[in-house]
Amino acid sequence: MAIVKRKFDAVIVGAGGAGMRAALQLSEAGLKVAVLSKVFPTRSHTVAAQGGIAAALGNVTEDNWHWHMYDTVKGSDYLGDQDAIEFMCRQASEVVYELEHFGMPFDRLDNGKIYQRPFGGQSQHFGGAQATRSCAAADRTGHAMLHTLYQRNVRANTQFFVEWMGLDLVRDEGGDVCGVMALDMETGEVMLLQARATLFATGGSARIFGASTNAFINTGDGLGMAARAGIPLQDMEFWQFHPTGVYGVGVLISEAVRGEGGYLLNKDGERFMERYAPHAKDLASRDVVSRALTTEIKEGRGCGRDGDHLLLKLDHLGAEVIHTRLPGIREIAMKFAHVDPIHDPIPVTPTAHYMMGGIPTNFNGQVVVPYKTGPEEVVQGFYAVGECACVSVHGANRLGTNSLLDILVFGRAAGQQIIEDLKKNPHHKPLAPDVADGTLARLARLENQKDGESVAQVSDALRKTMQTHCGVFRFAEMLEQGVARIGEVAERANHTEIRDKSRVFNTARVEALELDNLVKVAVATMASAQARTESRGAHARDDFPDRDDNKWLKHTLYFNEEQRLDYKPVRLKPLTVPSFPPKARTY
Ligand code: FUM
Repeated sequence: MAIVKRKFDAVIVGAGGAGMRAALQLSEAGLKVAVLSKVFPTRSHTVAAQGGIAAALGNVTEDNWHWHMYDTVKGSDYLGDQDAIEFMCRQASEVVYELEHFGMPFDRLDNGKIYQRPFGGQSQHFGGAQATRSCAAADRTGHAMLHTLYQRNVRANTQFFVEWMGLDLVRDEGGDVCGVMALDMETGEVMLLQARATLFATGGSARIFGASTNAFINTGDGLGMAARAGIPLQDMEFWQFHPTGVYGVGVLISEAVRGEGGYLLNKDGERFMERYAPHAKDLASRDVVSRALTTEIKEGRGCGRDGDHLLLKLDHLGAEVIHTRLPGIREIAMKFAHVDPIHDPIPVTPTAHYMMGGIPTNFNGQVVVPYKTGPEEVVQGFYAVGECACVSVHGANRLGTNSLLDILVFGRAAGQQIIEDLKKNPHHKPLAPDVADGTLARLARLENQKDGESVAQVSDALRKTMQTHCGVFRFAEMLEQGVARIGEVAERANHTEIRDKSRVFNTARVEALELDNLVKVAVATMASAQARTESRGAHARDDFPDRDDNKWLKHTLYFNEEQRLDYKPVRLKPLTVPSFPPKARTY
């Protein structure tokens, strides 16, 4: 079947902060850039980022990038690659000032400098007093950033394909990536977007869980496409559960609340974080706080009729602070929890929030894969940035507000790398005539399947399985059962039936395609989690409660096709400064 083909210098899948920062770099260099997005660009999930962007500006307390680097390495539970972490923390101030000059409406201190607030895991002097490092626009930092980047991209002539979904990577016979197959969600048209560089910025995938702070669009499309193309997924056992999702709903209540002075209470009115993290208390890193909440609930100190949540108190901050610094939080609390936090605490519970793993890349955004006989190699023409990528700067646990930093630093770096690479590759690579056949066959299978289960039923089973078998605390038996159950779900997903083909915007088709991707993410997560017999960062095992650096100071790689795991070493050597060797991690 003949399909429409269009050529660009670069194609970017995803219009969140990472995709738009990379697109801006490329469009401003005069390249022809297409950005595909399932939603209008300013509705991408970056819009939901609330608390800030980490950068050691030192506007409120003394700070420097080296302390930020130490905190990030420690926060990662030593699984983060220290060269990449140095790269990110050293560039933080520069990318924030650059964003300010793009027009980002940061809040201001009285002296006119960018407003900063404390966040979890931030310290001065390598583990000393609390640092104040997160640059904020009230509690809508991601919203302000996304609009700033979108406007700059419009000015730079980036071409947006709105309500388009990436379907599959296009690779030539040598394995080089030459573009992407994509679906126009309104018309159902399938197109081949040929490109000299293809960059994935498809965001997170926490929709594999039943309770998630993520938008409905966060279905791991980039990871699904990469996995189908034979690229392994890295460190998929590490999922961050944000301590404060609205109870029963999942919407994020920013850590900025605790940064501004709010704190958590159990049913006895006790400020329980003092027991778990005597120094940092409510501003310990997220894995520590989420485990504390889960333990309080498990041990009978949870709140409410079912004792299944905790309370986040902020009324003592006063109406003025809440109105000026946390207006979005008040709105969310009133809408979703039916409480006004000026007077009453917000009911909260740990909620799936962020994927530390993803498509393996180096710190220039190039996708790297291991070769059986030698060191890692770059996949020519293929790049990934933001949450869908694993650089790895977050290791086993990300610090709050390092995600917006990640997307700026690595979005820009990938853009720069692509500009250099394209100078050496001035022509599009020839494609085999059957290059679209695999995608078209997959679409036909989804279309024509009869008497299968509904997509919604199978998606629901997937989310329930992940929530039950791969949560904050993990147990041997639960993981073992989880691997079996998610395998069954994967099999069921091969036989779904699109029941209502007439729904507007091809919604039913899109949901079926998204399920394919969710399955890839969930299977990789469960297999990686079962295999890692230690506790590190967000991966906490009841049967292996300690970190085991002798055996497990290494990254996991999951190969979808062979259903096989492999491992690669953590890069402990930074670029210019001495390494931070692993040590006990306390807050
Ligand atoms: O709590 C928050 O505002 C979330 C920030 C983040 O995930 O970095």
